[in-house]
Amino acid sequence: MSTPLRLSRSIVGQAEAEAVSRVIIEDGYLGMGSEVKRFEEDIAAFLGVPANHVITANTGTAALHLAVQAAVEPGREVLVQSLTFVASFQAISAAGAVPVACEVRPETCTIDLDDAARRLTDKTAAIMPVHYASNPAYLDDVYAFAQRHGLRVIEDAAHAFGCRHDGRLVGTFGDIACFSFDGIKNITSGEGGCIVTADQTVAQRCRDARLLSVENDTEKRFTGQRSWDFDVTRQGWRYHMSNLMAAIGRVQLSRLPGEFGPARKALAAIYREELAGVPGVTLFATRPEDDIIPHIFVVRIDAARRDAVKEVLAAAGVPTGMHYKPAHLLSFYGGGRTCLPVTEALYHEIVTLPLHPGITAEEVRVICAELRKALAA
Ligand SMILES: Cc1ncc(COP(=O)(O)O)c(C=O)c1O
Repeated sequence: MSTPLRLSRSIVGQAEAEAVSRVIIEDGYLGMGSEVKRFEEDIAAFLGVPANHVITANTGTAALHLAVQAAVEPGREVLVQSLTFVASFQAISAAGAVPVACEVRPETCTIDLDDAARRLTDKTAAIMPVHYASNPAYLDDVYAFAQRHGLRVIEDAAHAFGCRHDGRLVGTFGDIACFSFDGIKNITSGEGGCIVTADQTVAQRCRDARLLSVENDTEKRFTGQRSWDFDVTRQGWRYHMSNLMAAIGRVQLSRLPGEFGPARKALAAIYREELAGVPGVTLFATRPEDDIIPHIFVVRIDAARRDAVKEVLAAAGVPTGMHYKPAHLLSFYGGGRTCLPVTEALYHEIVTLPLHPGITAEEVRVICAELRKALAA
């Protein structure tokens, strides 16, 4: 491996630079305007939904926060797996709602509905399934559970842009899905994210709240104007996307089907092939390979050896990660007051291996050889 391996990175180049340069030189307006409108239209066309189902934001966390605020009253509870990025929890608490930490199913790291059922109260208003490592997993069961208990579903689909559930693109069915376009996701707009929903009450609330809840400001900005005489009836935020970000996002989106998607899928397939049956490594269950564009590749390593294996890999030039420290262990979310044994056990087993379209098939094979060597030592 000649250049240092990276766990993840942005894959951007000339086309993104030209798109940004076009906005700077030709458009002359870097803030939220027509390029953001075009990005929302492009996302809608990619997903096959009407353009008014898509609302961009300046991060995936902002998208989640807007969605929770639009769909859940303050003080109500949201069921969410603890094994997620803290952004899921922060988005819920920022909206004045209460994140209720749930277990995950060990074979997929997605929410355990039996455990979630035990945590239902008369305050429960929503469930936030996290499509861990891009896998929507048992999403039908989540929707059936939500229907049984009268809950909203806010999908944390940060990892899952372009992924399918039983052949249908995430975001094109269901209640509310939130994606992230941060620097290392399946596509990036620098930072960024979006909400996708058919519920036009939620959509309009998100659209307004991203611009300080100035009513219908989005519609004005998309035509190069802004509101001067307006009303505000709800709390809002400065969460809108800029034309600069949208320009990058549009190029990235055009590269997903022919370039990023196939590259990520092919590298994950090599990991699976190389690591299947290796003693000491457990692979997570996956969907049919073609449904998933994997944002990260995570394996389980026996907890007693996990940290030593990570160190051996680091010494061999293979960076690894850990997605994630469970949120219920963080001081702000109870500091471990809740006991989640499955999640806590997984926390000591998970290892994220390098995955991005800048890695070659040969590098993945070398990484797997180093991992086998580390386990055999
Ligand atoms: C599971 C999950 N949820 C939410 C987010 C937040 O997205 P962003 O980084 O765009 O704010 C991330 C980003 O890493 C994530 O991995």
